[in-house]
Amino acid sequence: MLGSLLLAGSRVPLVRRAVSGVPLTRKVVDRFVAGETTQDAVESVHRLTDAGLAVTIDHLGEETRDAEAAAQTADAYIVLLGALRELELGDRAEVSVKLSAVGQALGADGDKIALENAQHIAEAARGAGANVTFDMEDHTTVDSTLGILRAVREDFPSAGVALQAYLFRTEDDCRDLSHEGSRVRLVKGAYAEPASVAHQNKNEVDKAYVRCLRILMAGKGYPMVGTHDDRLISITETLADRFGRSLGEYEYQMLYGIRTDKQQALVGAGHTMRVYIPYGDDWYGYFMRRLAERPANIAFFLRALGGK
Ligand code: FDA
Repeated sequence: MLGSLLLAGSRVPLVRRAVSGVPLTRKVVDRFVAGETTQDAVESVHRLTDAGLAVTIDHLGEETRDAEAAAQTADAYIVLLGALRELELGDRAEVSVKLSAVGQALGADGDKIALENAQHIAEAARGAGANVTFDMEDHTTVDSTLGILRAVREDFPSAGVALQAYLFRTEDDCRDLSHEGSRVRLVKGAYAEPASVAHQNKNEVDKAYVRCLRILMAGKGYPMVGTHDDRLISITETLADRFGRSLGEYEYQMLYGIRTDKQQALVGAGHTMRVYIPYGDDWYGYFMRRLAERPANIAFFLRALGGK
């Protein structure tokens, strides 16, 4: 219930201004966000890759309403990818892109603008030997995101996408995207979605996740298992055995600052474990979704406000 309220509030400008204006918010945000600048992101990349982790980096922002801001976000990725190129990490570092941050929400021309910006980013990623993965936003954007993915893949076949298990449509999308060379990050889903399109009950979401995971693990693509859920990780291992996938033929992904002990344990067991690193000053929507996922995070936030 509180989670749903937070997700609803995450899209209300007045609430955004109120939360962003609280002086102690920044300290709490730092638990989930690597910092504001490219330099901050690069420092986190150093720290995590030195510890054996792979990374995917997200320049924070979403639902951009003007074309100039969309182009600036694409430029920020290009600068970041220039820095990654110097580090020579190859596919141990990649970027995650929200298409609404690069123009998708700009009305009739939105898809065209987002596609062009996505292609610029993919070109820079190729120069750095890195991949690009498109995040998935609310259900109204799925067709557009998959259309842009298809177009980008014509020139950059390694471009990947996140699919959300809570959407009824996702089993079919997993089937469509389980072909050779296809990179799919499977996540539970983090937006407030209506009952007409998505499972509402946590158990149902978990069961849908397993069905989708099975399709991806049985398929010919490269599954990226985006979860912090121990049960789903152990089911992934069972499916890897069943479908003869060895280490390196799928990977785990988790969010920056969440279950870091488990991240290290998976690295220790020989897995590719990729950490999603968000950076930038437009942290509000991302932060609210992380609060909504877990009541303990709300308590942490409230304690910080109280100065503890
Ligand atoms: P679940 O929420 O059941 O959590 C399992 C356990 O993980 C919890 O018991 C807790 O220990 C820990 N945990 C989970 N969330 C936590 C939090 N916020 N703080 C502290 N502990 C937490 N969603 C989306 O809609 N579109 C997208 O593109 C992406 N992209 C994405 C990339 C990556 C790499 C990850 C890992 C996740 C996403 N997500 C996403 C978010 C995803 O949809 C989902 O909301 C979260 O991953 C939480 O779901 P879990 O699978 O971790 O399970």
